[in-house]
Amino acid sequence: MAEPDQIVILTGAGISAESGIDTFRDTGGLWENHPIEQVATPEGFAKDPELVHRFYNLRRAALSKVKPNAAHLALGRLQHEFAGKLTLVTQNVDDLHERGGSSDVIHMHGELLSAFCSACDHHWQQLSDLSPSTPCPACQTRGGPRPDIVWFGEMPYQMRRLEAAVQACDLFVSIGTSGAVYPAAGFVHLAKTYGARTLELNLDPSQGSAVFDEARHGPATKLVPEWVASVLA
Ligand code: OAD
Repeated sequence: MAEPDQIVILTGAGISAESGIDTFRDTGGLWENHPIEQVATPEGFAKDPELVHRFYNLRRAALSKVKPNAAHLALGRLQHEFAGKLTLVTQNVDDLHERGGSSDVIHMHGELLSAFCSACDHHWQQLSDLSPSTPCPACQTRGGPRPDIVWFGEMPYQMRRLEAAVQACDLFVSIGTSGAVYPAAGFVHLAKTYGARTLELNLDPSQGSAVFDEARHGPATKLVPEWVASVLA
């Protein structure tokens, strides 16, 4: 089989599971004991901004207690040593890819360490807690700042760039994602339509597993370093 020149890697919650961050669908549709619609929708935020800020403040603070695992580190190594073009896109809002050595990571569902103002659309790095009375650093509106998380019903980031990368790649790899949430779940179909080989690395078969040309099942900390070693061999 020809060596790939352009690789797109899509990651999901499964790659961070062994670092100690809960996945979504393995916890019965709850995110840290909250129904998704309470903490991951614009309606939930409008109804109770205090609760939603508290929820993301806890998630943000929890990042300091987790570390990148062997799968994040292997992808960081791949980005530095792979001679072709690599696009790393994650549905995760944690910063473990960056701490694992990856750069220019596309966070299509946003980032815990970022915030933006719903009044003026200013974006900034957010390391401390937010509250409904936090003023926007640009326009000073209180109540404007919100977590930079793509909630249900909102448009994921950088879709045009992502679609172009998926159409141009010759290898598409999906790691640790259930394939339950679109548009990310549709990337494998797009990649195949444009002639790429497709590979799934996941703990167990995802919803779209049968669509992939090849699927390997097991923990990310085992499968990802093995796959990276084979690409770089
Ligand atoms: P899910 O929780 O839906 O799926 C996680 C996947 O990771 C499952 O298929 C598990 O089998 C797999 N998995 C678990 N542990 C693993 C391990 N150690 N190694 C490899 N795989 C493992 O998470 P996502 O697919 O990321 O969206 O969810 C997609 C989106 O749904 C999230 O980004 C979030 C959520 O609602 C938003 O917040 C907008």
